[in-house]
Amino acid sequence: MALLGCCLFLILFLLGLAESQSQTFNHPFNRTDIQAAIGDMRAKSYYGFAMLLQMLNGTSQPNNRDLTFLMPDDKELSASSISIDEVEEFLLKHAIPMPLYFNDLSHFPTGTLVPSGNRTQMIRIHNRARGDFFVNNAQIVSANVCLSSVIKCHGVDAIIEYDHGN
Ligand SMILES: *[C@@H]1O[C@H](CO)[C@@H](O)[C@H](O)[C@H]1NC(C)=O
Ligand SMILES: *[C@@H]1O[C@H](CO)[C@@H](O)[C@H](O)[C@H]1NC(C)=O
Ligand SMILES: *[C@@H]1O[C@H](CO)[C@@H](O)[C@H](O)[C@H]1NC(C)=O
Repeated sequence: MALLGCCLFLILFLLGLAESQSQTFNHPFNRTDIQAAIGDMRAKSYYGFAMLLQMLNGTSQPNNRDLTFLMPDDKELSASSISIDEVEEFLLKHAIPMPLYFNDLSHFPTGTLVPSGNRTQMIRIHNRARGDFFVNNAQIVSANVCLSSVIKCHGVDAIIEYDHGN
């Protein structure tokens, strides 16, 4: 049953992804939405992640408004070494091309794979309860930070890592 649930979700995701792929991640951000999301992030002291988003202003980036960001906090970001030309790749690894409240995420059983902003990399859900919910290696520690626009975001306690071939 859990397996069936997982596969159903995966199929729904892939259908949605196929539909949105052509216009995803090719055009400038919708500034209104992204600025609103950045405001929400700053209000909860996710300054580093907000700054990375600002850095992409004008570069090729998701214009799809259907986005969820998974944000490591400033302490995590400052301990990592992201070079300027890796900012886009870093953000894509910390995004899901769908707007998901934590309540939406919480319906995914452990083992569900959701696409990241990088089509070649999937995020694996570990859902043991609210307060014990992981996206790959990172735990969601601050749910529903972005609420002012269609863009959603949640704070995580680590840089998201991907296994090879994941
Ligand atoms: C950007 O988002 C705002 C608010 O949701 C919307 O009103 C506007 O039409 C969008 N602009 C574009 C270019 O999609
Ligand atoms: C983003 O770029 C546009 C034009 O390239 C500029 O007008 C705007 O001020 C920039 N926004 C930020 C937040 O840097
Ligand atoms: C997607 O991930 C792969 C594997 O890490 C990487 O080689 C590629 O550059 C990434 N693509 C983008 C657009 O970030």
